[in-house]
Amino acid sequence: MNYFEYRDGRLLAEGVSVSEIAERVGTPVYIYSARTLRRHLRVVREAFAGTDTIICFAMKALSNLSVLKLFSDLGAGFDIVSGGELMRCLTAGADPSKIVFSGVGKTDSEIEMALRTGILMLNVESRPELYRVSEVAQRLRLTAPVSLRVNPDLNPATHPHISTGHRDSKFGIPLSQVRDYYAEARGLPNLKLIGLTTHIGSQITETSPFVEAAQKLATIVRDLRRDGIALKFLDLGGGLGIPYQEQSPLPAEYAAALLGPLRGLELTIIIEPGRVLVGNAGILVTRVLYVKETDVKRFVVVDGAMNDLIRPVLYEAYHEIRPVEERQRSAVQIADVVGPICESGDFFARERELPEVQAGDLLAVMGAGAYGFVMASNYNSRPRAPEVIVDGTRFHVVRERESYEDLIRGERIVPLREGPDA
Ligand code: LLP
Repeated sequence: MNYFEYRDGRLLAEGVSVSEIAERVGTPVYIYSARTLRRHLRVVREAFAGTDTIICFAMKALSNLSVLKLFSDLGAGFDIVSGGELMRCLTAGADPSKIVFSGVGKTDSEIEMALRTGILMLNVESRPELYRVSEVAQRLRLTAPVSLRVNPDLNPATHPHISTGHRDSKFGIPLSQVRDYYAEARGLPNLKLIGLTTHIGSQITETSPFVEAAQKLATIVRDLRRDGIALKFLDLGGGLGIPYQEQSPLPAEYAAALLGPLRGLELTIIIEPGRVLVGNAGILVTRVLYVKETDVKRFVVVDGAMNDLIRPVLYEAYHEIRPVEERQRSAVQIADVVGPICESGDFFARERELPEVQAGDLLAVMGAGAYGFVMASNYNSRPRAPEVIVDGTRFHVVRERESYEDLIRGERIVPLREGPDA
């Protein structure tokens, strides 16, 4: 459910015409709907109503300051994975007591930043990291609130690049070693063991892997209690899929899957949803430059490219593509929608059925709110696209299009030796 809809044949973002934004701001451009963002947070929150649950938005999915501010004002916390993300969410007004820090490779300075900020907890993923957190905390004379991330060894059916919960992935502590880790961690100075964490993958479109993960974690919590370790928080990560093309469970079904096995445990639940909150709340709007016909194919060449949205080539991801101006009874064509970058992987869609388009038409790549802009790069020295948020009948540029000056910022030409090397 989102607020990108056609009225009189024109695609609207809430109450604003998408083509008007494209005219004013240029293309390619990311457009988000504030109402959709608010709605998604509310629906997820309602799914967990009546339970003690903290929603920590996995800000890696979409991290511009305005979106972070919107979620923060609505009471959300944040799941961060870097010092940069910590800086961003604090700048947007995040409450430190609702920030969890995930990731396998936290640096000393990131650990220090997190401890000084006083975040809710660090999700620790290995023995050396555990010792490092303890050392940094000792140096700062602070206590580090720690949760250990377990790898539950299961294999949700999703793209291998975004599956994290199987035994041979780099993430988490092996299931068989978790109790030993807690026993060992208990003896380390300046640590406070407060939680247990997992995250099994992303774009998961069945509930069974969530049930299985929750069951495994519930067992660990009970075992640890027998060992005399009482935890307060259970962090179940993110991962709920969205209907790019496939069906996906509703937040209520997802919540039921997770909460069922946890009944009676009396823990504060943390979830780290990313995609489900923002995926369908954003589109990437791009303009057709050329329609190129070869002997075997038709290419719709657009001004957006893989540097703007890399998901199609990186994960073979499907994004629906819609014309911004609907044509009555227009013929349907099969085409590849491709960008200007010098790589065959530069496509948004392949062999896609599209209404007939011509140069100058606008296309909307749907479901681009999550892992869209945040994964954009400057490859081919392309400035990154602007980000716009629509709120009712108004729109705001919340991040400007990069300029050519931005592209060379921080670079310098140094006097290198001339002539051939000896
Ligand atoms: N928590 C942790 C520890 C994570 O690593 C992730 C995502 C999330 C939460 C949020 O997962 P979500 O609810 O969004 O599924 N770039 C890929 C997705 C990478 C996900 C990485 N981790 C894509 O475009 O599909």
